[in-house]
Amino acid sequence: MAHPSFSRIGFIMAAAGSAVGLGNVWKFPYITGQYGGGAFVLVYLLTIFLIGFSVLVAEMYIGSRGKSDTVTSFEHLDPTPRKPWKYAGLMAFNGLLVMTFYSVVIGWIFHYIFLTLTQPLPTDIPTAQANFTHLTTLEPFSQLFWHAIATLIVVVVLYRGVKAGIERMNMIMMPSLIAIFVGLLLYSMQFGEAFVRALEFMFYPDFSKLSSEAIVKAIGHAFFTLSIGMGAIMTYSAALPHKNNITHAAFWVAFLDTAIALIAGVLVFAFLFHFDQEPAVGPGLVFASMPVIFSQLGYIGTLLALLFFLALSFAGLTSAVSLTEPSVEYLINRFGFSRLKAVAWSGLTYFGVGVLVLLSLVEGTDAWLKIGERSLFGFFEHITDAILLPFSGLLTALFIGYILPKNALREHLEKEMGTKLYGVWRFSIRYIVPVALLFMLLNLTGIIVV
Ligand code: PHE
Repeated sequence: MAHPSFSRIGFIMAAAGSAVGLGNVWKFPYITGQYGGGAFVLVYLLTIFLIGFSVLVAEMYIGSRGKSDTVTSFEHLDPTPRKPWKYAGLMAFNGLLVMTFYSVVIGWIFHYIFLTLTQPLPTDIPTAQANFTHLTTLEPFSQLFWHAIATLIVVVVLYRGVKAGIERMNMIMMPSLIAIFVGLLLYSMQFGEAFVRALEFMFYPDFSKLSSEAIVKAIGHAFFTLSIGMGAIMTYSAALPHKNNITHAAFWVAFLDTAIALIAGVLVFAFLFHFDQEPAVGPGLVFASMPVIFSQLGYIGTLLALLFFLALSFAGLTSAVSLTEPSVEYLINRFGFSRLKAVAWSGLTYFGVGVLVLLSLVEGTDAWLKIGERSLFGFFEHITDAILLPFSGLLTALFIGYILPKNALREHLEKEMGTKLYGVWRFSIRYIVPVALLFMLLNLTGIIVV
């Protein structure tokens, strides 16, 4: 790869920036609420450390050895004569598909930052919910505007490249995001009883609440939140600094991602309980409940709301950049595009499809932009979550567990992890990961239903 590599800390920040995204702050608290709290969190944590971590190491290994875009990296490493595994590298395009709705959601966050700065916050939930619904179903132009701004930021950062663009952005946004969330967590501690209730809700496992659907959701979310199956981490790893310890990096990424999800969960529920709201309010949790809660706190509340949405936008943007970079690298390496052309092509593609995605929620156009029972928005979210991500993760695990000659792999990883952990890792990647992913694939596509 021609461009300069990350610094060591820059790589960890960028990979953690990819992992810490809307999934952590927007989705994790509300699905935890929906599926009953502690027991769900436990399954999620087990999946992260027993399964997700192994795939993270696998993606980093393929990227750092292949040293190129995902397709070329698989091709370099594939020992079989016709190199069919390079097609697994087409996972680079999964990210663009995710971006079609991810960018729209980042647009909503920008809209909320703007509202917080210009208007009083709504003071009751029905009004707040109505505002949010109004935005998504009746305001196509303002969604379009903010979706365009989000795209513009992503495109400019990517155009500046790995060091001056991606690393720089993450070195600024990640520490700010962590500081803001830790600050909000500390603030929520003064709620006393509500804070303790939030801790209980998140960490006390009541297994009677754990449905099989909850297990599938927890596993699926654990993969999504670690940025697995999109080639994001693999592509970043191609620009790893020399002699970097990938086990160490993967550990930090999993740790930071988990810590921020848990902090976001605890603080959202602490605020929620303090103002007597119920936990399971669905996707509107962040866009409807949080503004109302902040409105109760006067000027401080406006400041807190601003910081909260700002941190959320940082989380989204750093992930968005990592979702788009794989296709950019692919187009540069395989088709000889200039960086400008590759970035413009990728950005315009997801932006254009994203316009249809946002219109699929808007009244009037929603009837046209449907696939089966699902809006285009829901459809893209579903196929990336339920099919493309587990499928690509499965290919990665099979490739590294069964196809790649094991000597070099073993030598490299044993040096980093020690013999014992390497044994556990290999067992996980060969048996546990394929079974878990196959289970998700069959379950979420509706072939088996638990
Ligand atoms: N991990 C990100 C999140 O939690 C989403 C993401 C998935 C980013 C895959 C990159 C690749 O929101």
